[in-house]
Amino acid sequence: MHSGSLQTLEEVIRLYNEGGGHNQTADLQPLHLTDSEIKQLVTFLQSICSPEVDSEAPDLPNYEVVALGKESAEAENNDQPVTDKNNSFRESRALSPLPAPFDTPFTEAKAELGKHLFFDPRLSADGSTSCHSCHSFRTGGSIQTPISMGGPGTSHWRNSQTILNVAYYGKLNEDGAKNSIESQNSGAWTGAVAGNLDPTLGEERLAQISDYVERFEDVFGADLPRWNDALQAVATYQRTLNSIDTPLDRYLQGETSAISESAIRGFELFPGKANCIACHHGPAASDDSYHALGVPQYPDFLNSPIKQITFRYELTSKGVPRDVYKNATTDDGLHYVTKRIEDRGKFRTPSLRALVHTTPYMHNRNSDSHSLRAGRTGRDAETAWTKLELGPPEGLTVHGKWLTL
Ligand code: HEC
Ligand code: HEC
Repeated sequence: MHSGSLQTLEEVIRLYNEGGGHNQTADLQPLHLTDSEIKQLVTFLQSICSPEVDSEAPDLPNYEVVALGKESAEAENNDQPVTDKNNSFRESRALSPLPAPFDTPFTEAKAELGKHLFFDPRLSADGSTSCHSCHSFRTGGSIQTPISMGGPGTSHWRNSQTILNVAYYGKLNEDGAKNSIESQNSGAWTGAVAGNLDPTLGEERLAQISDYVERFEDVFGADLPRWNDALQAVATYQRTLNSIDTPLDRYLQGETSAISESAIRGFELFPGKANCIACHHGPAASDDSYHALGVPQYPDFLNSPIKQITFRYELTSKGVPRDVYKNATTDDGLHYVTKRIEDRGKFRTPSLRALVHTTPYMHNRNSDSHSLRAGRTGRDAETAWTKLELGPPEGLTVHGKWLTL
């Protein structure tokens, strides 16, 4: 049984090689990969990632007393649906654009407003914590600690995952508790261990920042900022944060030198002897489904009172029975959503398109090491993470069959 921490991709593959961890129910069998095959798989996984993501914080506008009763009754709704015209930055990408949800059509102005909101700490109760505090682009849209910080005075109970490529998941959070990016984000701004902000107070704050009032009016045609519009805007921004054009994408499009010989051997092992493709398939290399691999629990989860407070709070607010509450020692993932016994310990298969940013690995990021960022992998992958460039890695299925079962 694997008992060590999962700081590196090699350690993750060794966990699979041993047939998963204790209590795994995913029916993993030992793989009998040799050391050099493990290294080839690591090289291959590195070729699907790109190194740095950089999104500069915008200059945030100041509060001021904004007069009410502006003459905006006839304000136009400039919320244009996606067209090739207003999305020139999406053209000429090898990979086709991600369809925006029908009720949140994409516009650049909406994404730009969302970007401002993403960086703005005033959308937390005490004005201290923005989305970017916990999903920093200095570390790939995540925080690389096993368990994230919470809002002031609290800890979170899970890792702060990367927000890159989130548009490719059907449901959000590692237990699939949220049905859309918008509803996930509402929880992030208002939730007790994150922003803790009352939505009505949030609207009043935005209404005292004239730049926001104008932007909301431009984008949504309403005379004052509305909470749901803010959610649409910040979700629209996240739908622009995708990793495309990785070495593997280029390889699949015919650039044979885009990945190394060793990575090509890993590419063959992935659907072959290693059978990773059973769960890591589709555009983002995730089946968007849930499996229990028996990943060991992060020890600090049980030993830190402040983390236990959050854990107990989450159990209560998720309505678990009293006896489960009293005896729970692990995060049971999907079980909290479905309440089915067989779903205990199942977590969503993560995308493999951001591995350079998601260390330490697995749902509880089983280590406090930053070793990957120290240069283990991905650093030399010369690829562009996109900021405001959309496009699903759909080319993977178009240009190569490996990600489809
Ligand atoms: C206090 C830290 C914190 C703040 C603030 C925060 N997040 Fe998160 N975020 C997390 C953690 C931790 C998770 C993992 C939750 C889980 O899996 O249950 C998460 C999960 C997510 C996810 C789901 C990712 C996935 O792959 O399913 C998205 C999207 C997201 N956050 C966006 C945001 C946005 C947008 C904001 C601001 C509106 C925000 N977060 C504010 C810590 C934070
Ligand atoms: C039975 C389905 C399944 C198979 C087969 C599978 N995985 Fe996974 N993979 C998952 C799930 C589920 C997780 C998340 C588990 C958790 O957090 O507890 C995961 C997590 C990972 C992670 C960590 C990603 C991160 O950002 O934390 C990597 C890397 C990975 N898998 C690579 C592989 C490789 C390489 C193979 C083949 C040797 C493989 N997987 C086979 C389902 C699977």
